[in-house]
Amino acid sequence: MKIITSIGELQQTVDNERISKRRIALVPTMGFLHDGHASLIRKARQETDVVITSIFVNPTQFAPNEDFSRYPRDLERDMMIAEEAGCDIIFAPTAEEMYPEGFKTSVKVGIVSEKFDGVFRPIHFEGVATVVLKLFLAAKPHRAYFGQKDYQQTLVIRKLVRDLNLDVQIDIVPTRREADGLAMSSRNVYLSEENRAHALKLFKALKTGEEVFLKGEKERVKINAAMRAVLQEIPDAVIDYAAAAKAADFDEPDFFKSGDDIVLLIAVRIGNTRLIDNMIIP
Ligand code: PAJ
Repeated sequence: MKIITSIGELQQTVDNERISKRRIALVPTMGFLHDGHASLIRKARQETDVVITSIFVNPTQFAPNEDFSRYPRDLERDMMIAEEAGCDIIFAPTAEEMYPEGFKTSVKVGIVSEKFDGVFRPIHFEGVATVVLKLFLAAKPHRAYFGQKDYQQTLVIRKLVRDLNLDVQIDIVPTRREADGLAMSSRNVYLSEENRAHALKLFKALKTGEEVFLKGEKERVKINAAMRAVLQEIPDAVIDYAAAAKAADFDEPDFFKSGDDIVLLIAVRIGNTRLIDNMIIP
């Protein structure tokens, strides 16, 4: 496995691969890899010839009060996990390489980035869209892999690709969970044992929302209330949102229709850790 830190060197490498007709995959990450990330890399390995994993804790998607400086980092361990999953190239640029002096350009994708997490993290998706576009232009992938774990992010990326005619196929990979249902996340290392136990309520709330919906409840606020009631069992939790919406475009009708694909979305702060999770009900 090769490590590349310069954008120019990565572009030259992928240009040569493209001349040899090899299919290139990109798996963008912020590192501190777990089996969720590894599942993206494994899928890319099966479907393409050259698998690039980017590891870059992107400062522009964190607000000043968020966890950028304490975000967990361990490049050595990441390299082992990535290689084991089938990665060929790690792209690990510095912040100066990605954002040289005077950097100004950025990309906003509009409405899908403004609801839910967009309300609580107003600059977040602009930072994500911009860095992902830069990563696409550096790695020139045929396919890029993202996790359903960050559902709103997947809609933002799809919008970015469609609106800017990016020639990249986007693949969404199901959320990997611990045996007890907790969605894997780099941020889970922040959780104390007690918080870790409380965090299970996120999955329980999603299950409850699903159950209520499948039993025939179509009124949106009632589904939301059923999920919120479960989350309220967590002492001192701050519920940013617990919401049902149409999966395709985040439309929030008063009543869902029988054929609607819906997504249940949750964001909760437990102690100083913010956790998100979601479930699609087709
Ligand atoms: P990060 O949080 O490191 O996640 C990298 C990718 O792994 C994302 O596509 C995310 O959805 C996916 N992922 C995380 N946990 C997962 C799980 N439990 N199961 C399946 N996939 C999972 O998301 C980012 O980084 C950044 O915003 C990034 C896209 C790299 C831009 O900076």
